[in-house]
Amino acid sequence: MRVPKMRVRVCGVGSYLPKRVLTNTELSRSLDTSDEWIRVRTGIRQRHIAADDECTSDLALHASRAALGQSSRSVDEIDAIVLATTTPENTFPATAARLQHKLGISRSIPCHDVQAVCAGFVFALHSAWNMLLLGQVRCVLVVGSEIYSRSIIDWQDRSTCVLFGDGAGAFILESIEEDAFSKNPCGYILDVMTSTDGSFYDMLYIDGGAGSSTNVGHLKMNGSVVFREGIAKMANSVTELLSRNNLRAEDISLLVPHQANQRIMDGVARKLGVLQERVVSTVGEHGNISAATIPAALSHACAEGMVKRGDLIAITAMGGGFSWGGALIRW
Ligand code: COA
Repeated sequence: MRVPKMRVRVCGVGSYLPKRVLTNTELSRSLDTSDEWIRVRTGIRQRHIAADDECTSDLALHASRAALGQSSRSVDEIDAIVLATTTPENTFPATAARLQHKLGISRSIPCHDVQAVCAGFVFALHSAWNMLLLGQVRCVLVVGSEIYSRSIIDWQDRSTCVLFGDGAGAFILESIEEDAFSKNPCGYILDVMTSTDGSFYDMLYIDGGAGSSTNVGHLKMNGSVVFREGIAKMANSVTELLSRNNLRAEDISLLVPHQANQRIMDGVARKLGVLQERVVSTVGEHGNISAATIPAALSHACAEGMVKRGDLIAITAMGGGFSWGGALIRW
């Protein structure tokens, strides 16, 4: 029996940012910081903060509906949900299960969360890509959704709290057989890679959690190590992907790096030799929204008309673990 070779298409991208905006100037009224310090060191101007009655699955729901709308797929066509988050709604069950219910999916389908912090969306994409390539499912909703503002940020710690915000982003992925794909060869994932080096565990972590303490804990970070390794690991991920697909940095039409800090993004682009105008930057608008940054930034690029058919898009992220990875998409 001939097993059909599958391709995986990105057929919808969407995002959601909560309405409330917290500017650097507002922050500096209650914290020993300034708009200038934050902007110069990070490029961040403001962050969005979830309303008191908004939970992680609510942000995910908005982003998922936006991605579904763009994909012209119906909610009934979703065969699986993979949701990346560092801030699950509850310690268990998976926030993906809550999202399934809120989307009104009454069929039993596999729904699970992925925890790889700021690289979470790339890990979720990798997991969904494999399910689709194996032909196990036909259509997967991949989501990154985060509410950092509520409990894991210490709002008295100026070295970390100014960096993060809340938001969500989503992709709708669909598998198609090679024969059908060859008639319309666009919008597909060329390759994905992920990796982890746990020796960096203590460089970026939350000092709490159900398996080690009695509280949720707060984010702790060695900023300079994260800065240095972030540039190296994101640039290396893209280099590895390009090399194993016989492509060069000059072939990249659009680089969508994890939106943590403009200076880190500039460093990644410089190391790869990608021109500044080819780098999508939304960090000024929402700060670091962890697992949501990649789909939110790509959604912004689509809305702004920055993406054309045939473009090569490189995405890459690094976060706690350290965990990192990337993907190449031929639009
Ligand atoms: N406002 C004003 N001053 C601040 C401040 C703030 N929000 N945060 C720190 N400072 C102070 C420090 O206390 C330090 O003061 P000191 O010299 O008197 O000790 C000074 O600014 C310089 O701090 P430093 O850590 O050297 O600044 P930096 O230029 O390295 O930038 C980061 C700090 C956090 C912006 C930078 O290290 C970074 O972006 N790291 C990566 C963080 C990240 O992206 N994490 C998530 C990855 S997924």
